[in-house]
Amino acid sequence: MADQDIQSILREDREFPPADSFVGKARIDAQRYQELCAQAEKDPQEFWANLAREHLHWHKPFKVVLDESDAPNYRWFSDGELNVSYNCLDVHLAERGDKTAIIFEGEPGDVRRLSYRDLHAEVCRFSNGLKALGIVAGDRVVIYMPMVPEAVVAMQACARIGAIHSVVFGGFSANSLRDRIEDAGARLVITADGGHRGGKVVPLKQATDEALASGCETIEKVIVLRRSGEDIPMKDGRDIWWHQAISGQSDRCEPAWLNAEHPLFLLYTSGSTGKPKGIQHACGGYLLNAKLTNLWVFDLQDNDVFWCTADVGWVTGHTYVAYGPLAAGATIVMYEGAPTVPDSGRFWKICQDHQVTVFYTAPTAIRALMKFGDEVPAAYDLSRIRLLGTVGEPINPEAWMWYRRVIGNENCPIVDTWWQTETGAIMITPLPGVTATKPGSCTHPLPGIFADIVDQDGNTVSDPDKGGFLVIRKPWPGMLRTIWGDNQRYLDTYWEKFGRRFYVAGDSARRDKDGYFWIMGRIDDVLNVAGHRLGTMEVESALVAHERVVEAAVVGRPHDIKGESIFAYVVLQGERPVGDEALKLVQELRGWVSKEIGPIARPDDIRFADNLPKTRSGKIMRRLLRTIAKGDEITEDISTLENQAILEQLRGTS
Ligand code: PRX
Repeated sequence: MADQDIQSILREDREFPPADSFVGKARIDAQRYQELCAQAEKDPQEFWANLAREHLHWHKPFKVVLDESDAPNYRWFSDGELNVSYNCLDVHLAERGDKTAIIFEGEPGDVRRLSYRDLHAEVCRFSNGLKALGIVAGDRVVIYMPMVPEAVVAMQACARIGAIHSVVFGGFSANSLRDRIEDAGARLVITADGGHRGGKVVPLKQATDEALASGCETIEKVIVLRRSGEDIPMKDGRDIWWHQAISGQSDRCEPAWLNAEHPLFLLYTSGSTGKPKGIQHACGGYLLNAKLTNLWVFDLQDNDVFWCTADVGWVTGHTYVAYGPLAAGATIVMYEGAPTVPDSGRFWKICQDHQVTVFYTAPTAIRALMKFGDEVPAAYDLSRIRLLGTVGEPINPEAWMWYRRVIGNENCPIVDTWWQTETGAIMITPLPGVTATKPGSCTHPLPGIFADIVDQDGNTVSDPDKGGFLVIRKPWPGMLRTIWGDNQRYLDTYWEKFGRRFYVAGDSARRDKDGYFWIMGRIDDVLNVAGHRLGTMEVESALVAHERVVEAAVVGRPHDIKGESIFAYVVLQGERPVGDEALKLVQELRGWVSKEIGPIARPDDIRFADNLPKTRSGKIMRRLLRTIAKGDEITEDISTLENQAILEQLRGTS
């Protein structure tokens, strides 16, 4: 986060008490909140056990609440059995089978509604289709699909039969897809001919074919949903249309009763070093936190229409689209496309047309839409919205205030929710009927979440406004279980820094004089571009894979809309190009990274230099590169810099 932002947040002293419309009506009111906090404080295991018994259907009740014998590989409810899909669908059939589960709108404007009964039938049919292909519990299935109901059907069907899904965001390239398929050792890919995004068709099947042509030996079958209607080649013996896979299949499918610790999904996310890591979540614990946070934080009531704008390719689309709201029996909106198609009013039109009551999006989207002016949302009836949320990155107070004033009509609470792929569900957040909010602060940890801020030695930072490492002191059910295939990396990344005493989130944070948490940003080399995590190393490796590139260093630079943008310094083989030749190569490299990783990783700026600034020990001086990227005055010590002349090249002035 930019120093400037930290400064402005430090000056932030506006406070907004819970809205009158919420007080007394929310699922969690002040009294209930106090009770929950007291119970969690007194006996955290008993606290979670009671909630797990109350909120989940157990085929075989658990006796063991938390198995710490192999800590920090914690196991929750480990002798219990349940099924996630049963808990999201079957449990609602008797009382609200006809209730709308999903309102879907495609980018071209097509709308579909699925009741809980419809969704259950679709999931069962597809589960049977998967079984007919020989997919069994424990198999890995990669889902590479547009934001259409079938993506949720595919996830739920995997959960129903115990296959472990790994959703790969449709914006990732063929190479990224291949790496994830290979790391997971998947047997099946589920994709579509194409999805609609930004007025174009995203060629998902084509990317799948490319990925499979360059490896992925473990893949046996590819299921292809017809969505865009493109004419695509189907490979004999390998590719099956979705409609053929479900043809003749029964709309009933007995769920597999799985151990609570059975892996539900892997989701790849960036770390500071090396390749993306497969974050592994377990059925029981994940579902508990997913459901509870939908009820507590989004206060989902029977007549709510909940729209979380995240794609199912991200964890937010898992917990607040595909699983949590369904477990809570809510009606959700799913939208396939971009927020600016056909114009910048699309989000607000969807809110109006589908009578959205709870809206959850990323600060980057808010900042982007804010730029179009107040009159755009003003043209739509947003009066049903009663609660707003944000996730993924720090929100600047200006965007927060706009969100509150223009979208929330000054009377909706805003929940700024801090969490991570690894945490499974929201951890630090206001509760809409309880918390007085401050623009830019995610406020307080939820009951049962023991978040703290510690210094280098692991001691709690008690000075207000002094930054430190954000840590979680006690295990919680929805936490990641391990990194797929690399438990050592799990231990090293999240636990070793403080001798395995607590979970290290990788963020820095501070607490103000009132005990409010403020997230300051990452402490490692992870970038947060438009709310998406990218490792600097990943982008660097992609650049270095280009034949002209010898070395690359990537840093984040503050960006008005995206939060951070990617700035790359590149050392080339041979002469450093100038003028048109340089421009051409910049374009080529940007396209290259986009192809290697995906458009989200395309650098905004690329600068060529004869070499990179390094310390005596050979470490790239990233802080210096960040300063230069921002165009700020250099205050770092550059006395150790061997070739002072390259500063001009890095600055782009020579
Ligand atoms: O740096 C924090 C930031 O996003 C990171 C997690 O990224 P990811 O696993 O991709 O999950 C994003 C969606 C849950 C965190 O380590 N982050 C997330 N939420 C917030 C945030 N930073 C500030 N405020 C938030 N509300």
